[in-house]
Amino acid sequence: PTARGRVPLAGHSLRFRRDALRFVRELRRHGPLTKIYIGPRPVHFVTDPELVREVVAVQARAFEKGAMFTTLRAPLGDGLITSAGDRHLRHRRLMQPAFHHERIARYARVMAERSRASAAAWEPGTTRDLVPEIHRLTLDILLRTLYAGAPDDLELHAAVQDWLAVKYHSMRLALSPVHAWAERVPLLPAWRPPHTGPLERLAAVQRRIIAAYRADGRDRGDLLSMILLAEGADGALTDTEVVDELITLFLAGTGTVSAALAWSLHEIARRPGVQRRIHEEVDSLPAGRPSGIGDLPALAYTRRVLAEVLRLYPPSWLLMRRTVRPVTLGGTRLPQGAEVFFSPYALHRDPHLYEDPDRFDPERWPHDAAAKAPRHTYLPFGAGSRLCIGEEFAWAELTLALAAFTAHRRLTPAGADPVRPLVGTVLRPDRLLLTAHRRPV
Ligand code: HEM
Repeated sequence: PTARGRVPLAGHSLRFRRDALRFVRELRRHGPLTKIYIGPRPVHFVTDPELVREVVAVQARAFEKGAMFTTLRAPLGDGLITSAGDRHLRHRRLMQPAFHHERIARYARVMAERSRASAAAWEPGTTRDLVPEIHRLTLDILLRTLYAGAPDDLELHAAVQDWLAVKYHSMRLALSPVHAWAERVPLLPAWRPPHTGPLERLAAVQRRIIAAYRADGRDRGDLLSMILLAEGADGALTDTEVVDELITLFLAGTGTVSAALAWSLHEIARRPGVQRRIHEEVDSLPAGRPSGIGDLPALAYTRRVLAEVLRLYPPSWLLMRRTVRPVTLGGTRLPQGAEVFFSPYALHRDPHLYEDPDRFDPERWPHDAAAKAPRHTYLPFGAGSRLCIGEEFAWAELTLALAAFTAHRRLTPAGADPVRPLVGTVLRPDRLLLTAHRRPV
Protein backbone atom coordinates (compact mmCIF):
# COMPACT_ATOMS: atom_id res chain seq x y z
CA PRO A 1 0.00 0.00 0.00
CA THR A 2 1.21 3.50 -0.71
CA ALA A 3 0.01 7.08 -0.30
CA ARG A 4 1.98 8.07 -3.37
CA GLY A 5 -0.78 8.50 -5.89
CA ARG A 6 0.85 11.02 -8.19
CA VAL A 7 3.98 11.92 -6.26
CA PRO A 8 5.00 15.52 -6.95
CA LEU A 9 8.64 16.41 -7.56
CA ALA A 10 9.28 17.38 -3.95
CA GLY A 11 7.53 14.23 -2.75
CA HIS A 12 5.05 14.96 0.03
CA SER A 13 7.32 17.65 1.54
CA LEU A 14 5.07 20.55 0.66
CA ARG A 15 1.95 19.01 2.16
CA PHE A 16 4.01 17.91 5.10
CA ARG A 17 5.33 21.42 5.63
CA ARG A 18 2.02 23.18 5.05
CA ASP A 19 -0.06 21.15 7.50
CA ALA A 20 1.91 18.25 8.89
CA LEU A 21 -0.64 17.42 11.60
CA ARG A 22 -3.45 16.98 9.12
CA PHE A 23 -1.21 15.13 6.70
CA VAL A 24 -0.13 12.49 9.24
CA ARG A 25 -3.72 11.96 10.38
CA GLU A 26 -4.92 11.35 6.85
CA LEU A 27 -2.33 8.66 6.16
CA ARG A 28 -4.45 6.12 8.07
CA ARG A 29 -6.74 5.99 5.04
CA HIS A 30 -3.98 4.40 3.00
CA GLY A 31 -3.58 1.41 5.30
CA PRO A 32 -1.50 0.30 8.29
CA LEU A 33 1.82 0.92 6.50
CA THR A 34 2.14 3.47 3.74
CA LYS A 35 5.04 4.87 1.75
CA ILE A 36 5.53 8.62 1.50
CA TYR A 37 8.35 10.81 0.20
CA ILE A 38 9.96 13.58 2.25
CA GLY A 39 12.03 15.27 -0.43
CA PRO A 40 13.80 12.42 -2.20
CA ARG A 41 13.69 10.21 0.86
CA PRO A 42 11.12 7.38 0.96
CA VAL A 43 9.59 6.93 4.38
CA HIS A 44 7.44 4.01 5.52
CA PHE A 45 4.72 5.46 7.71
CA VAL A 46 3.10 3.17 10.29
CA THR A 47 -0.48 4.10 11.21
CA ASP A 48 -1.57 0.98 13.08
CA PRO A 49 -0.87 0.40 16.81
CA GLU A 50 -0.11 -3.30 16.30
CA LEU A 51 2.59 -2.45 13.76
CA VAL A 52 3.93 0.27 16.07
CA ARG A 53 4.29 -2.46 18.68
CA GLU A 54 6.30 -4.51 16.18
CA VAL A 55 8.64 -1.56 15.62
CA VAL A 56 9.19 -0.40 19.20
CA ALA A 57 8.94 -3.71 21.07
CA VAL A 58 8.65 -7.03 19.22
CA GLN A 59 11.28 -6.32 16.56
CA ALA A 60 12.97 -3.41 18.35
CA ARG A 61 16.48 -4.78 17.80
CA ALA A 62 16.00 -4.51 14.04
CA PHE A 63 15.65 -0.72 14.34
CA GLU A 64 17.84 2.22 15.28
CA LYS A 65 16.79 5.84 15.57
CA GLY A 66 17.11 6.93 11.91
CA ALA A 67 18.77 9.44 9.60
CA MET A 68 17.86 12.57 11.51
CA PHE A 69 19.42 11.20 14.67
CA THR A 70 22.70 10.40 12.96
CA THR A 71 22.84 14.05 11.94
CA LEU A 72 21.85 15.18 15.40
CA ARG A 73 24.98 13.60 16.88
CA ALA A 74 26.86 16.76 15.85
CA PRO A 75 24.80 19.24 17.89
CA LEU A 76 23.91 16.73 20.62
CA GLY A 77 26.74 14.28 21.07
CA ASP A 78 25.91 10.60 21.31
CA GLY A 79 23.64 10.26 24.33
CA LEU A 80 20.57 8.09 24.93
CA ILE A 81 18.42 9.80 22.30
CA THR A 82 20.78 9.27 19.36
CA SER A 83 22.77 6.18 20.36
CA ALA A 84 22.10 2.64 19.17
CA GLY A 85 22.70 -1.03 19.94
CA ASP A 86 24.97 -2.08 22.79
CA ARG A 87 26.09 1.47 23.54
CA HIS A 88 22.49 2.51 24.08
CA LEU A 89 21.78 -0.51 26.26
CA ARG A 90 24.83 0.04 28.47
CA HIS A 91 24.17 3.77 28.90
CA ARG A 92 20.49 3.18 29.58
CA ARG A 93 21.35 0.74 32.41
CA LEU A 94 23.82 3.19 33.92
CA MET A 95 21.43 6.15 33.66
CA GLN A 96 18.35 4.35 35.01
CA PRO A 97 19.16 4.65 38.77
CA ALA A 98 19.21 8.46 38.46
CA PHE A 99 15.51 8.23 37.51
CA HIS A 100 14.43 5.74 40.22
CA HIS A 101 11.33 6.57 42.18
CA GLU A 102 13.23 7.48 45.39
CA ARG A 103 15.34 9.96 43.45
CA ILE A 104 12.26 11.53 41.84
CA ALA A 105 10.99 12.22 45.38
CA ARG A 106 14.03 14.45 45.94
CA TYR A 107 13.67 16.20 42.60
CA ALA A 108 9.95 16.75 43.26
CA ARG A 109 10.72 19.12 46.16
CA VAL A 110 12.74 21.27 43.74
CA MET A 111 9.98 21.07 41.12
CA ALA A 112 7.31 22.22 43.58
CA GLU A 113 9.44 24.98 45.08
CA ARG A 114 10.57 26.44 41.74
CA SER A 115 7.04 26.22 40.26
CA ARG A 116 5.61 28.03 43.28
CA ALA A 117 8.22 30.79 42.91
CA SER A 118 7.49 31.15 39.20
CA ALA A 119 3.71 31.26 39.76
CA ALA A 120 4.04 33.74 42.66
CA ALA A 121 5.85 36.21 40.39
CA TRP A 122 2.69 36.50 38.28
CA GLU A 123 0.68 39.42 39.68
CA PRO A 124 -3.09 38.84 39.77
CA GLY A 125 -4.92 41.12 37.34
CA THR A 126 -2.11 40.99 34.79
CA THR A 127 -1.83 39.28 31.41
CA ARG A 128 1.31 37.50 30.25
CA ASP A 129 2.63 35.36 27.47
CA LEU A 130 3.51 32.32 29.53
CA VAL A 131 5.58 30.53 26.89
CA PRO A 132 8.93 32.20 27.79
CA GLU A 133 8.17 31.97 31.54
CA ILE A 134 7.42 28.26 31.31
CA HIS A 135 10.59 27.71 29.34
CA ARG A 136 12.64 29.47 32.02
CA LEU A 137 10.95 27.37 34.70
CA THR A 138 11.58 23.99 33.09
CA LEU A 139 15.21 24.88 32.43
CA ASP A 140 15.62 26.09 36.01
CA ILE A 141 14.14 22.83 37.33
CA LEU A 142 16.37 20.71 35.12
CA LEU A 143 19.51 22.65 36.09
CA ARG A 144 18.74 22.28 39.79
CA THR A 145 17.85 18.60 39.60
CA LEU A 146 20.88 17.82 37.43
CA TYR A 147 23.40 19.83 39.43
CA ALA A 148 22.34 20.48 42.99
CA GLY A 149 26.03 21.35 43.48
CA ALA A 150 26.06 24.21 40.96
CA PRO A 151 22.66 25.93 40.87
CA ASP A 152 24.14 29.41 40.60
CA ASP A 153 27.06 28.65 38.31
CA LEU A 154 26.85 31.66 35.98
CA GLU A 155 29.19 30.19 33.40
CA LEU A 156 26.98 27.08 33.21
CA HIS A 157 23.82 29.18 32.75
CA ALA A 158 25.44 31.27 30.00
CA ALA A 159 26.77 28.19 28.20
CA VAL A 160 23.35 26.47 28.35
CA GLN A 161 21.58 29.56 26.99
CA ASP A 162 24.04 29.88 24.08
CA TRP A 163 23.72 26.22 23.25
CA LEU A 164 19.92 26.28 23.37
CA ALA A 165 19.90 29.27 21.02
CA VAL A 166 21.81 27.47 18.25
CA LYS A 167 20.47 24.00 18.93
CA TYR A 168 17.06 24.74 17.39
CA HIS A 169 18.75 26.08 14.28
CA SER A 170 20.86 22.94 13.92
CA MET A 171 17.86 20.69 14.45
CA ARG A 172 15.79 22.47 11.81
CA LEU A 173 18.61 21.97 9.33
CA ALA A 174 18.95 18.31 10.25
CA LEU A 175 15.28 17.84 9.37
CA SER A 176 15.32 19.75 6.10
CA PRO A 177 14.88 18.14 2.69
CA VAL A 178 18.03 19.97 1.53
CA HIS A 179 19.95 17.86 3.97
CA ALA A 180 18.17 14.77 2.64
CA TRP A 181 19.41 15.62 -0.85
CA ALA A 182 22.95 16.31 0.35
CA GLU A 183 23.02 12.91 2.02
CA ARG A 184 22.29 11.23 -1.30
CA VAL A 185 25.26 12.76 -3.10
CA PRO A 186 28.13 10.51 -2.05
CA LEU A 187 30.87 12.98 -3.02
CA LEU A 188 29.74 15.69 -0.60
CA PRO A 189 31.64 15.69 2.70
CA ALA A 190 29.72 14.47 5.76
CA TRP A 191 27.27 17.22 6.64
CA ARG A 192 27.83 18.98 9.93
CA PRO A 193 25.54 21.61 11.33
CA PRO A 194 27.12 25.01 11.90
CA HIS A 195 27.77 26.52 15.31
CA THR A 196 29.57 23.74 17.13
CA GLY A 197 31.26 26.41 19.32
CA PRO A 198 28.46 26.62 21.92
CA LEU A 199 28.37 22.82 22.21
CA GLU A 200 32.11 22.74 22.88
CA ARG A 201 31.81 25.53 25.47
CA LEU A 202 28.94 23.75 27.22
CA ALA A 203 30.92 20.50 27.21
CA ALA A 204 33.93 22.28 28.78
CA VAL A 205 31.79 23.70 31.62
CA GLN A 206 30.27 20.27 32.21
CA ARG A 207 33.74 18.73 32.42
CA ARG A 208 34.71 21.26 35.10
CA ILE A 209 31.59 20.44 37.15
CA ILE A 210 32.09 16.68 36.70
CA ALA A 211 35.70 17.04 37.96
CA ALA A 212 34.45 18.85 41.08
CA TYR A 213 31.87 16.11 41.73
CA ARG A 214 34.42 13.34 41.20
CA ALA A 215 36.88 15.08 43.55
CA ASP A 216 34.68 14.66 46.62
CA GLY A 217 32.60 11.67 45.47
CA ARG A 218 29.55 12.81 47.45
CA ASP A 219 25.94 12.04 46.49
CA ARG A 220 24.34 15.48 46.27
CA GLY A 221 20.89 14.02 45.71
CA ASP A 222 20.82 15.11 42.09
CA LEU A 223 20.83 13.40 38.69
CA LEU A 224 24.53 14.01 38.05
CA SER A 225 25.73 12.38 41.31
CA MET A 226 23.75 9.28 40.50
CA ILE A 227 25.01 9.12 36.90
CA LEU A 228 28.61 9.39 38.15
CA LEU A 229 28.13 6.81 40.90
CA ALA A 230 26.45 4.19 38.70
CA GLU A 231 28.72 1.31 37.78
CA GLY A 232 28.12 -1.69 35.55
CA ALA A 233 30.13 -4.86 35.00
CA ASP A 234 32.36 -2.92 32.59
CA GLY A 235 32.79 0.16 34.77
CA ALA A 236 31.19 3.59 34.91
CA LEU A 237 30.58 6.17 32.20
CA THR A 238 33.63 8.22 31.20
CA ASP A 239 33.59 12.03 31.44
CA THR A 240 32.99 12.33 27.69
CA GLU A 241 30.09 9.88 27.85
CA VAL A 242 28.59 11.73 30.84
CA VAL A 243 28.85 15.05 28.96
CA ASP A 244 26.94 13.58 26.00
CA GLU A 245 24.22 12.30 28.34
CA LEU A 246 23.89 15.62 30.17
CA ILE A 247 23.49 17.52 26.91
CA THR A 248 20.91 14.97 25.81
CA LEU A 249 18.96 15.56 29.03
CA PHE A 250 18.91 19.31 28.33
CA LEU A 251 17.41 18.61 24.95
CA ALA A 252 14.94 15.95 26.06
CA GLY A 253 13.87 17.41 29.39
CA THR A 254 13.04 21.04 28.66
CA GLY A 255 11.20 21.63 25.35
CA THR A 256 8.90 18.66 25.81
CA VAL A 257 7.86 19.55 29.37
CA SER A 258 7.43 23.25 28.47
CA ALA A 259 5.17 22.35 25.57
CA ALA A 260 3.03 20.02 27.69
CA LEU A 261 2.70 22.56 30.49
CA ALA A 262 1.82 25.34 28.06
CA TRP A 263 -0.88 23.21 26.38
CA SER A 264 -2.25 22.29 29.82
CA LEU A 265 -2.58 25.90 30.93
CA HIS A 266 -4.10 26.74 27.55
CA GLU A 267 -6.79 24.07 27.96
CA ILE A 268 -7.68 24.72 31.59
CA ALA A 269 -7.90 28.49 31.08
CA ARG A 270 -10.65 27.82 28.54
CA ARG A 271 -12.46 25.33 30.78
CA PRO A 272 -13.69 26.79 34.08
CA GLY A 273 -15.24 23.47 35.15
CA VAL A 274 -11.98 21.59 34.72
CA GLN A 275 -10.08 24.34 36.48
CA ARG A 276 -12.50 24.28 39.40
CA ARG A 277 -11.83 20.60 39.96
CA ILE A 278 -8.09 21.21 39.94
CA HIS A 279 -8.60 24.04 42.46
CA GLU A 280 -10.53 21.65 44.72
CA GLU A 281 -7.67 19.16 44.64
CA VAL A 282 -5.03 21.80 45.32
CA ASP A 283 -7.09 23.20 48.21
CA SER A 284 -7.23 19.71 49.74
CA LEU A 285 -3.42 19.45 49.95
CA PRO A 286 -2.07 19.73 53.54
CA ALA A 287 -0.26 23.00 52.75
CA GLY A 288 -2.97 24.26 50.34
CA ARG A 289 -0.30 24.23 47.63
CA PRO A 290 2.00 21.57 46.19
CA SER A 291 5.21 20.83 48.04
CA GLY A 292 6.47 17.45 46.87
CA ILE A 293 5.89 13.92 45.70
CA GLY A 294 3.57 13.12 48.62
CA ASP A 295 0.98 15.41 47.02
CA LEU A 296 0.69 13.40 43.83
CA PRO A 297 -1.96 10.87 45.00
CA ALA A 298 -4.28 13.75 45.97
CA LEU A 299 -3.80 15.34 42.53
CA ALA A 300 -5.39 12.45 40.62
CA TYR A 301 -7.80 14.59 38.58
CA THR A 302 -4.99 17.02 37.72
CA ARG A 303 -3.09 14.03 36.35
CA ARG A 304 -6.07 12.93 34.27
CA VAL A 305 -6.20 16.42 32.78
CA LEU A 306 -2.51 16.10 31.92
CA ALA A 307 -3.08 12.65 30.41
CA GLU A 308 -5.72 14.15 28.14
CA VAL A 309 -3.45 17.07 27.20
CA LEU A 310 -0.65 14.64 26.30
CA ARG A 311 -3.14 12.70 24.18
CA LEU A 312 -4.32 15.73 22.21
CA TYR A 313 -0.97 17.52 22.03
CA PRO A 314 1.83 14.97 22.37
CA PRO A 315 4.99 17.13 22.31
CA SER A 316 6.88 14.31 20.54
CA TRP A 317 4.26 14.11 17.82
CA LEU A 318 6.42 12.24 15.28
CA LEU A 319 8.84 9.39 16.05
CA MET A 320 11.37 7.91 13.68
CA ARG A 321 13.33 4.72 13.20
CA ARG A 322 15.56 3.10 10.58
CA THR A 323 15.98 -0.61 9.90
CA VAL A 324 19.43 -2.04 10.68
CA ARG A 325 18.62 -5.18 8.68
CA PRO A 326 15.83 -6.30 6.33
CA VAL A 327 12.53 -6.56 8.22
CA THR A 328 9.04 -7.79 7.40
CA LEU A 329 6.44 -5.41 8.76
CA GLY A 330 2.76 -6.19 8.33
CA GLY A 331 3.60 -8.44 5.38
CA THR A 332 5.74 -5.78 3.66
CA ARG A 333 9.46 -6.46 3.26
CA LEU A 334 11.58 -3.43 4.14
CA PRO A 335 15.25 -3.35 3.12
CA GLN A 336 18.09 -2.48 5.51
CA GLY A 337 18.32 1.30 5.96
CA ALA A 338 14.58 1.93 5.43
CA GLU A 339 13.21 4.95 7.29
CA VAL A 340 10.11 4.17 9.38
CA PHE A 341 7.97 6.91 10.98
CA PHE A 342 4.94 6.81 13.27
CA SER A 343 3.00 9.59 14.89
CA PRO A 344 1.65 9.57 18.46
CA TYR A 345 -0.43 12.60 17.42
CA ALA A 346 -2.12 10.67 14.59
CA LEU A 347 -2.71 7.58 16.77
CA HIS A 348 -4.12 9.68 19.63
CA ARG A 349 -6.63 11.32 17.29
CA ASP A 350 -7.59 8.20 15.36
CA PRO A 351 -11.40 7.71 15.54
CA HIS A 352 -10.88 3.92 15.40
CA LEU A 353 -8.95 4.12 18.67
CA TYR A 354 -10.63 6.98 20.57
CA GLU A 355 -14.27 7.95 20.57
CA ASP A 356 -14.79 11.52 19.36
CA PRO A 357 -11.01 11.93 19.37
CA ASP A 358 -10.80 15.73 19.08
CA ARG A 359 -12.92 16.29 22.18
CA PHE A 360 -11.03 17.31 25.34
CA ASP A 361 -12.33 14.98 28.02
CA PRO A 362 -10.26 14.06 31.11
CA GLU A 363 -13.07 11.66 32.07
CA ARG A 364 -11.85 9.17 29.49
CA TRP A 365 -8.95 8.36 31.81
CA PRO A 366 -9.33 5.92 34.70
CA HIS A 367 -9.73 7.33 38.20
CA ASP A 368 -6.71 5.40 39.39
CA ALA A 369 -4.00 7.92 38.58
CA ALA A 370 -1.34 5.28 38.15
CA ALA A 371 -3.37 3.08 35.79
CA LYS A 372 -1.68 2.54 32.46
CA ALA A 373 -3.31 3.62 29.22
CA PRO A 374 -3.94 1.07 26.47
CA ARG A 375 -0.57 0.12 25.04
CA HIS A 376 0.62 1.43 21.70
CA THR A 377 -2.49 3.53 21.22
CA TYR A 378 -1.21 6.10 23.75
CA LEU A 379 2.43 6.98 23.21
CA PRO A 380 3.28 10.43 24.57
CA PHE A 381 6.46 8.94 26.05
CA GLY A 382 7.09 6.40 23.30
CA ALA A 383 7.24 2.69 24.18
CA GLY A 384 9.45 -0.36 24.26
CA SER A 385 13.22 -0.23 24.55
CA ARG A 386 13.38 3.51 23.82
CA LEU A 387 10.63 4.52 26.26
CA CYS A 388 11.29 7.98 27.72
CA ILE A 389 13.62 7.59 30.70
CA GLY A 390 12.19 10.83 32.12
CA GLU A 391 8.54 9.75 32.12
CA GLU A 392 8.06 9.67 35.89
CA PHE A 393 10.16 12.84 36.24
CA ALA A 394 7.91 14.56 33.68
CA TRP A 395 4.63 13.44 35.31
CA ALA A 396 5.83 14.74 38.68
CA GLU A 397 7.02 18.03 37.21
CA LEU A 398 3.88 18.63 35.15
CA THR A 399 1.49 17.75 37.98
CA LEU A 400 3.28 19.89 40.56
CA ALA A 401 3.76 22.83 38.18
CA LEU A 402 0.12 22.81 37.04
CA ALA A 403 -1.01 22.67 40.67
CA ALA A 404 1.36 25.53 41.58
CA PHE A 405 0.14 27.74 38.74
CA THR A 406 -3.48 27.29 39.78
CA ALA A 407 -3.01 27.25 43.57
CA HIS A 408 -3.72 30.94 44.19
CA ARG A 409 -4.88 31.99 40.74
CA ARG A 410 -7.79 31.56 38.43
CA LEU A 411 -6.67 31.69 34.80
CA THR A 412 -8.58 32.97 31.79
CA PRO A 413 -7.56 33.36 28.15
CA ALA A 414 -6.67 36.93 27.15
CA GLY A 415 -8.23 37.95 23.85
CA ALA A 416 -9.90 35.81 21.26
CA ASP A 417 -6.76 35.17 19.24
CA PRO A 418 -6.52 31.42 18.58
CA VAL A 419 -3.34 29.71 19.74
CA ARG A 420 -1.49 28.23 16.80
CA PRO A 421 0.45 24.98 17.09
CA LEU A 422 4.08 25.21 16.03
CA VAL A 423 5.07 21.94 14.45
CA GLY A 424 8.80 21.40 14.80
CA THR A 425 10.56 18.50 16.47
CA VAL A 426 8.26 19.38 19.39
CA LEU A 427 4.59 20.33 19.04
CA ARG A 428 4.09 23.53 21.04
CA PRO A 429 1.82 26.59 21.12
CA ASP A 430 3.23 29.72 19.47
CA ARG A 431 2.27 31.82 22.51
CA LEU A 432 -0.01 31.65 25.48
CA LEU A 433 -1.63 34.90 26.57
CA LEU A 434 -3.41 34.34 29.88
CA THR A 435 -4.78 36.60 32.59
CA ALA A 436 -4.39 35.67 36.25
CA HIS A 437 -7.14 36.49 38.78
CA ARG A 438 -6.88 36.28 42.52
CA ARG A 439 -8.77 33.35 44.04
CA PRO A 440 -11.47 33.06 45.15
CA VAL A 441 -13.18 35.59 42.85
C1 HEM B 1 12.81 9.60 25.07
C2 HEM B 1 8.72 12.17 25.25
C3 HEM B 1 10.29 14.41 29.24
C4 HEM B 1 14.57 12.26 28.73
C5 HEM B 1 11.55 10.05 24.83
C6 HEM B 1 10.66 9.52 23.83
C7 HEM B 1 9.53 10.25 23.87
C8 HEM B 1 9.68 11.24 24.91
C9 HEM B 1 8.31 10.09 22.97
C10 HEM B 1 10.93 8.32 22.92
C11 HEM B 1 11.47 8.78 21.60
C12 HEM B 1 11.51 7.68 20.56
O1 HEM B 1 11.01 6.58 20.78
O2 HEM B 1 12.04 7.94 19.48
C13 HEM B 1 8.81 13.01 26.35
C14 HEM B 1 7.76 13.92 26.76
C15 HEM B 1 8.20 14.54 27.88
C16 HEM B 1 9.53 14.03 28.17
C17 HEM B 1 6.44 14.11 26.04
C18 HEM B 1 7.51 15.56 28.74
C19 HEM B 1 6.22 15.79 28.77
C20 HEM B 1 11.57 14.00 29.49
C21 HEM B 1 12.38 14.40 30.61
C22 HEM B 1 13.60 13.81 30.45
C23 HEM B 1 13.53 13.00 29.24
C24 HEM B 1 11.91 15.32 31.72
C25 HEM B 1 14.82 13.88 31.32
C26 HEM B 1 14.98 14.65 32.36
C27 HEM B 1 14.45 11.39 27.67
C28 HEM B 1 15.57 10.58 27.18
C29 HEM B 1 15.05 9.80 26.13
C30 HEM B 1 13.65 10.17 25.99
C31 HEM B 1 16.99 10.56 27.71
C32 HEM B 1 15.80 8.75 25.31
C33 HEM B 1 15.57 7.41 25.97
C34 HEM B 1 16.20 6.23 25.25
O3 HEM B 1 16.16 6.16 24.02
O4 HEM B 1 16.72 5.35 25.97
N1 HEM B 1 10.92 11.08 25.49
N2 HEM B 1 9.85 13.12 27.21
N3 HEM B 1 12.28 13.14 28.69
N4 HEM B 1 13.34 11.13 26.93
FE1 HEM B 1 11.57 12.02 27.15
